[in-house]
Amino acid sequence: MVEFDNDFLFGTATASYQVEGAYNEDGRGMSIWDTFCRKNGKVFNGDTGDVACDHYHRYKDDIALMKKIGIKAYRFSIAWPRIFPEKGKFNQMGLDFYKRLIDELLINNIIPCATIYHWDLPQWADDLGGWLNRDVVHWYGEYVEKIFKELGTYVPMWITLNEPWCSSILGYGTGDHAPGHKNFGEALTAAHHLLLSHGNAVRIFRDFNLKDSKIGITLNLNEVYPETDSLDDKIAASIIDGYSNRWFLDPIFKGSYPDDMVKLFSSIFGSLDFIRNEDFNDISQKVDFLGVNYYTRAIVRKCVGELFNVKYVDGPNKKTDMGWEISPESLYNLLTRLKNEYTKELPIYITENGAALKDIISDDGHIHDDERIEYLKLHLNEAYRFIKNGGNLKGYFVWSLMDNFEWAYGYSKRFGIIYVDYKTQKRILKDSAIWYKDVIATRRIE
Ligand code: FCB
Repeated sequence: MVEFDNDFLFGTATASYQVEGAYNEDGRGMSIWDTFCRKNGKVFNGDTGDVACDHYHRYKDDIALMKKIGIKAYRFSIAWPRIFPEKGKFNQMGLDFYKRLIDELLINNIIPCATIYHWDLPQWADDLGGWLNRDVVHWYGEYVEKIFKELGTYVPMWITLNEPWCSSILGYGTGDHAPGHKNFGEALTAAHHLLLSHGNAVRIFRDFNLKDSKIGITLNLNEVYPETDSLDDKIAASIIDGYSNRWFLDPIFKGSYPDDMVKLFSSIFGSLDFIRNEDFNDISQKVDFLGVNYYTRAIVRKCVGELFNVKYVDGPNKKTDMGWEISPESLYNLLTRLKNEYTKELPIYITENGAALKDIISDDGHIHDDERIEYLKLHLNEAYRFIKNGGNLKGYFVWSLMDNFEWAYGYSKRFGIIYVDYKTQKRILKDSAIWYKDVIATRRIE
């Protein structure tokens, strides 16, 4: 039987741009996502986060729902453009929203877990080059300093960045995310400045000496499998592992980029002259935990002509509505690999895991999302297996508390355990929320 210890944290997650709305209220500045959504053809259906789930106004009701489910921790993110709508200009009203949110969580005995950057870079920063301009490290530093000063003691869990791979590769390489550039050399520059900003934020955090708070980073990681046993496919898998996992894990935990990838990247994209030797000391500042976002695995084969001569191939298992293959056992493999190669005894949190499904409201008014329950169950089982085998996994956050703005997919993908009717903003607990309530109450999975 699967039974989690009392100190295992059950949470749910959201992110500012995906749920808040109120995009032009209380002095909020524009973000790169506001801009990106307004560009033709970038986001499905022309959707924007202008209103989203209106969490900015409805946070009390949403927290009441969390309380009803018994959720112990809420991972939300802080919108930088609310705090600094213009370069160097602090906005108290923007910060006050997070004070209210955190207060309400604490009153309800829900642990606030704050992500400092979940992709909504202020537009003013992008106008100055965004993550390509090394000065971003200072802009971000000014922002985090203010955040720690005002909110530091109330938040026990801080996450510097969410998925820097996505911010850099999807934002500057493939162009699927804001700001929509398509240049892989730029993507690597952006990744480097993100990593530097992370390390700098950890250092600033330590200066505050907040005894009851911890800090870490959240990476999106996956196991990469070769399609066949051929040497070509194995090399392909090692390249994609380098590109999506090791390029971020190595500098943080080992203080250097992986040699094989430095060679490969510089042979394709030219000199990586944005890297300075002294940077690694900053990037590898000791963190208190690692956050892992896990959804699926990757299977690859060699394919000449593709980027890095590698192609992603479809796996045989069932897929979610994102087309992502359901592969719970590779969550176990991933966590085990992380422990062996990187984190050792360091606590790990699964800061996101969940499934998009085509949820519909049944005639009885409920949403019978059995497939989501199955998905969550399978992954929690693997998380438990990791713990039983000596893994230091401390918590699990379902993505997401509620349906929300799924980036380039707009509102077409539903990840929530709470259903959101975007026309009325009515919330309905899906069956998965009721199931999660029981898991949290009993700490067991039947
Ligand atoms: C992750 C993001 C999160 C959400 C999920 C589905 O990459 O961190 O905001 O979009 O995917």
